[in-house]
Amino acid sequence: MTFEAMWRDLHYVGRSATSGGYFRQPWTSAESELRAWFAEVTVARGLELETDGMGNQVAWWRPVAPSDLPAVLTGSHLDSVLDGGAYDGPLGVVSAIAAIDVLRARGFEPDRPIGVSVFTEEEGSRFGLACLGSRLVTGSSTWEEARERRDRDGIFLGDAVAASGLDPSTGLLSLDGVGCFVELHVEQGRDLVDRDVAVGVASEIWPHGRYRFDFEGEANHAGTTRMEDRRDPMLTYAMTALAANKQARLAEQRATFGRIEVAPNGTNAVPSRVTAWLDARCESDDALAELVDAISRQGSERASLDGTQLSVTAESVSGSVAFDPDLARSLAAIGDWPIIPTQAGHDAGILSAAGIPTAMLFVRNPTGVSHSPDEFAEMADCLAGVEALADTLAKLAS
Ligand code: GLV
Ligand code: MN
Ligand code: MN
Repeated sequence: MTFEAMWRDLHYVGRSATSGGYFRQPWTSAESELRAWFAEVTVARGLELETDGMGNQVAWWRPVAPSDLPAVLTGSHLDSVLDGGAYDGPLGVVSAIAAIDVLRARGFEPDRPIGVSVFTEEEGSRFGLACLGSRLVTGSSTWEEARERRDRDGIFLGDAVAASGLDPSTGLLSLDGVGCFVELHVEQGRDLVDRDVAVGVASEIWPHGRYRFDFEGEANHAGTTRMEDRRDPMLTYAMTALAANKQARLAEQRATFGRIEVAPNGTNAVPSRVTAWLDARCESDDALAELVDAISRQGSERASLDGTQLSVTAESVSGSVAFDPDLARSLAAIGDWPIIPTQAGHDAGILSAAGIPTAMLFVRNPTGVSHSPDEFAEMADCLAGVEALADTLAKLAS
């Protein structure tokens, strides 16, 4: 089965007929279908499949002669953001399987295990913590803490995992014996377009985080309450969103309020509460702390003018990641690929922070659009990515 055939297999899984985007949230039927698909295509290739108690998966290509050499891991994720694109995640998984096909067709025999991994809840779209699967596997988060997280419907993560037939007490994947990790990913910007090349290598991931802003006010009648008598948390939120945009522009960093919840969410009432989630990304850890502080401070100042209250809670913070520079240089030399930074988060960042030498390959995205149904990569570039990953694995596993 070629790359194109695998890509077609995934086309309808979790796809919205309205937007054409994907809803592949973890521990839902769409994600179970993707997990079953991964098991089918990897077992059909004679790979040895491991699925852990959270749903993380690895399919191993073992060398003919048993080897104690450290394994090479590649792969990505199959979950999506809400109404996401087809490529963010699945491109890395499908390319990894296709790269094994390419290596086999070339007659390549690895001298160490090569694994294709799929980490669950990479986007944190359901339980709010990005890269949950890889955080649990590397021990940077614990199951005891994670299981208490709730989704938007109030369902505990522990219950969602159990309802999908998985049992974390059976254990999580072990990355002992993994010598390096390479994640191929669609580029989520326009760097490669500007450079006119199909493939790049990552240098670093900007530090980034998600912060919950709780604005408390006083519910009241939209008609009879005089403007000067209101304690309107929507107003404080709106001014804070403007402040976030301004502060990020001034500092040349990134700040986004992409999600809000309003209570009681009625047209003819001043709301009692607004909860908004800030996504902030900066070129250094200090710049991130300063940006979030500046936005929080301006929000609080505005709250005191509006008679409302603001509290800010960090929900998911990922520090800066500098990928192994020697590994990046040695992979870039394979195809004279450029080495470029990214502002997007990845499981590769979590594995790198856990001390595993890690690299990423990016595949050109002609518009740079991502986390959107419009995310795209040309088939020729995807196939160039497969060849690049095959060359990379050949270099690392021989
Ligand atoms: C994940 O893709 C993120 O950058 O939030
Ligand atoms: Mn993403
Ligand atoms: Mn991704």
